[in-house]
Amino acid sequence: MMDILQAFDEYESAALAAIDATTSPEQLEQVRVEYLGQKKGKLRDLQSLIGKASKEEKPAVGKRFNEVRTRVGSRLETQLTSMTSRKSAREASFDVTLPGIVPRLGTLHPVTKTIVQFRELMGRFGFEVVEGPELEDERHNFEALNIPDDHPARDPLDNFYIATAAAGSDGPVLLRSQTSTVQIRTMEQQPPPIRIVSLGRVYRPDAVDRTHSCMFHQMEGLMVDRHVTMAHLKTLLTLFARAFLGPDVKIRFRPSFFPFTEPSVEVDMKWGDSWMEIGGAGMVDTNVFRAVGYDPEEVTGFAFGLGIERFCMKHFEVDDIRRFYENDVRFLSQL
Ligand code: DAH
Repeated sequence: MMDILQAFDEYESAALAAIDATTSPEQLEQVRVEYLGQKKGKLRDLQSLIGKASKEEKPAVGKRFNEVRTRVGSRLETQLTSMTSRKSAREASFDVTLPGIVPRLGTLHPVTKTIVQFRELMGRFGFEVVEGPELEDERHNFEALNIPDDHPARDPLDNFYIATAAAGSDGPVLLRSQTSTVQIRTMEQQPPPIRIVSLGRVYRPDAVDRTHSCMFHQMEGLMVDRHVTMAHLKTLLTLFARAFLGPDVKIRFRPSFFPFTEPSVEVDMKWGDSWMEIGGAGMVDTNVFRAVGYDPEEVTGFAFGLGIERFCMKHFEVDDIRRFYENDVRFLSQL
């Protein structure tokens, strides 16, 4: 009898373990056929053991058989119910009481934020925003800007020349080294008066360090009309810098030279205790007007080119320009 009861025990624990291990109704059905199947399941084999018990043993053996059968059967039921209820819970799926999944939103890059603000400010001063190409020819990057052939700024080692002559162009093609190109493109296309700004990338093969990058951004400004003077230029730059950084900002001009302006100045800005150079400016050179077909007897104008990263670094208190281009989200998300 002990053998028979032991066989029942073994059957029971094997069946329960097999049921617990199932993960789909299909698997469960296989287990059911194997252990409880009427035709050739393991239960039938057990049943035949009852016949081998002696008369006295039979009631106990029969009782244990029924017990085992009921237990395995009901564990099967429970397993099936929990499987189907889990499935239908998943299908009902949307529980409005659960906290939502907040999508991670990006933000504008600090340089882009600055550009957006600059455009907005200059728009309020009546300056239209125009765009120019980053791939330029020598006429727009140099010649029409009164930069002669032998000028050091044209040294191939100081520029990113891309092609000696591109399809559909007259000469070599380079990545623009300044946004002053857009002055020419604008004046070629429309007569005076002009009030534009153009903001974008420029490229120079400079050694990269805390304050230099081989790609950075400039804001070019151009105003051409009758009787435009340097006083307009200085007033505009002062109002602009104050609108961006606050009423304490001062602007100063230092005499300088640029081929496309006469006179030319370096522009410094004071914010806090120290002066900082922010760009160049001046009165548009008469040769530039002639190059685009404007009459220098009729109109005057001023132009300026400001480094956007300079402002951006001051504004966000960043001391290394390289941070802006490393795409480190841990840094960018603090600004
Ligand atoms: N293009 C000059 C540069 O990249 C900056 C500049 C100077 C722009 C004087 C101007 C200007 O429009 O008038 O260094």
